[in-house]
Formats: sequence, structure tokens, C-alpha cells
Amino acid sequence: MEVIILPTSDAVATLAADLVEAQVHAKPHAVLGVATGSSPVAVYDQLGRRLDTGLSFARTQIFTLDEYVGLNPEHPERYLNVIQRDLVAKIDVDPDAVHGPDGLAVDLRQACADYEGRITGAGGIDLQILGIGTDGHVAFNEPGSSLGSRTRVKTLTQQTRHDNARYFGGDVGAVPLHCLTQGMATIMDARSIVLIGSGATKATAVEQLVEGPISARWPATLLQLHPAVTVVIDAPAASRLQLTSYYQHTYDNKPNWQQPLARVDS
Ligand code: F6R
Repeated sequence: MEVIILPTSDAVATLAADLVEAQVHAKPHAVLGVATGSSPVAVYDQLGRRLDTGLSFARTQIFTLDEYVGLNPEHPERYLNVIQRDLVAKIDVDPDAVHGPDGLAVDLRQACADYEGRITGAGGIDLQILGIGTDGHVAFNEPGSSLGSRTRVKTLTQQTRHDNARYFGGDVGAVPLHCLTQGMATIMDARSIVLIGSGATKATAVEQLVEGPISARWPATLLQLHPAVTVVIDAPAASRLQLTSYYQHTYDNKPNWQQPLARVDS
């Protein structure tokens, strides 16, 4: 796990966008996994602006992490609509290449199995962008999630519903109780992962993610077992870490050859 601590959330967004850009340059037909929520919005803004400098998502495929159960197709907080607004509208990806689990399916279990099949059918995720919840969830794998889970229905914690009420006019009761989410094992199948986090509210979750024991209590800790995770965080999010000077020293002395992404001929 590489831990990169930057002074500001803007710097976090720039570096995360650099990593996505490197992935797409290395493999123009890359399969990208994308988070919704506030953390990646500045990353997506930057990626949109980079189309002027030759970056193209025309051959990429995009998979979201999760979806609320039961929000109607027009609901602005339905994650397929959120990703459309926050990312798809800003880049040149083919709208038919944007996928999410179907939170309106009559058979939700089947919808979850279908989603796993769509990811596998696309060749698997090359680069997964993750945020992290204040309770340590990634995607919507709440505390207690099986570390071997695949895409399935989950019940959101009250903490997550409170955190997300800001998108529902401050009304916690309007935040759905249930969601479909990629499982921890689904996320671990991604070839590389970039997790971003900003602000002091994420400090405890980041502390556990990076330095805590691996445990379903803090599902993000499973990422410690992934061979290619880059954690990009700002100073407030890093404020509870113990080994910050070592992470900084490692980043400052990163050898040129140690690039995370190898070029793949298209
Ligand atoms: C959303 C998702 C969640 C968020 C997390 C943090 O697709 O996967 O895990 O990344 O809830 O949300 P923000 O970024 O809004 O703090």
C-alpha cells in the first residue's frame, strides 16, 4: 500500500487524476471503476478539463460501485444519474459503456449476480477509484461486511445515512435503507486501486485503513492485502496516522522505475 499525503484536497484530486490519466494512456480501452459521493468530484472535473490536452475515454468502460435500492430513474441521487452528472457528462465515454447495478430490479439478487457477470465480461476492472466512509466503508460495504463478499444487497448504517442526508435535503429518512454494492472480494479483483480521502472527518477511517488490523469492523482494512493500492489523502485525513514521516520519505524518494502502471498496447 502506497500512502501519499498531500497538503490540500486540490492536490489530492490532481494526483488522482494523474493516475487515472496514466491508466488510460497505458490502456485506452481500460475498464474503470468509479466511486460516487463528494470525494472524487474534483478528480472528475480535472479529467474533464484534460480532454483539451488529448486525454480520451472513448474506448473505456465505466462501472460504478453501488446503487441505492428503490430510487426512481429520474431521482437526482440515483448513482447512475450522479455519475452521469459528475463524470460522464464531462468526458467522451460512450454512454452505453457506463454500467451500474440495478437498484430497481424486481429480483435484486439476480441483479447483483448480473452485475458481477458484466464486470467479468468486460475483462475486470483495471483501475478502481474509491472514497471511504467515516465508518470505514468502501463502496457500501458497511462494518461487519464479509471480507469475501461479492455484489449484494446491504443495509446502510445510520451513520452513513446521516452522512449522506446532505444529498437528500438534510432528511435522513429520505436516504434509502438499502443498497446494492460491489463486495469486498469484487473490489479486491481490481488490478489497481486509488483510494482518495480529504478532511478530518475521514481521519479515523484512514487510520484504520492504513495502520489498523485487518477486520470486518473496518472493511477498508482488507485493502492492505491488495498488491496495488495507492492511498491519496490530504493532511487532515492523515492526521491520525503514526508513520506519516516514513510515508512522506518514501514518496519523496520514489524511484523513477517504480511506476504503478505499465504501458499496454491497444
Ligand atoms: C459511493 C461510495 C462510498 C463513498 C463514501 C464516501 O459510490 O462508494 O463508499 O465513497 O461514502 O463518500 P464521500 O466521498 O461523499 O465522503
